[in-house]
Amino acid sequence: LASTELDISAIALGQIVTVKWRGKPVFVRRRTKQEIEAAQNVNLAELPDPQPDSARVQKPEWLVVVGVCTHLGCIPTGHEGEFNGWFCPCHGSTYDTSGRIRSGPAPSNLEVPQYAFLTDTKIKIG
Ligand code: FES
Repeated sequence: LASTELDISAIALGQIVTVKWRGKPVFVRRRTKQEIEAAQNVNLAELPDPQPDSARVQKPEWLVVVGVCTHLGCIPTGHEGEFNGWFCPCHGSTYDTSGRIRSGPAPSNLEVPQYAFLTDTKIKIG
């Protein structure tokens, strides 16, 4: 199946870049220190779909998730919502800086696709 390569060297701290992969958007987010801490310092018992941040990233600074809301498939907006991750405009689901569902009707976290760091500045999705 098709894969996509992305040069991440120009992505600024705090920026989210969207790439297309198998017809879907994938969000590549270079997280700030505060965003990483917010993702790590969460009581997992409070999460609807409990997953530690460490299980969702390969390097703390980089979050890679499929940009499709797990409710009914809308595309969430970044840096919005109560948890400063993503906000889905369709029915109000909010995701945190790890892409985990925190409130609203979506049942599960944003999916982490298969990806690999080819170099420090290049990733291959898929
Ligand atoms: Fe995102 Fe319904 S599709 S909340």
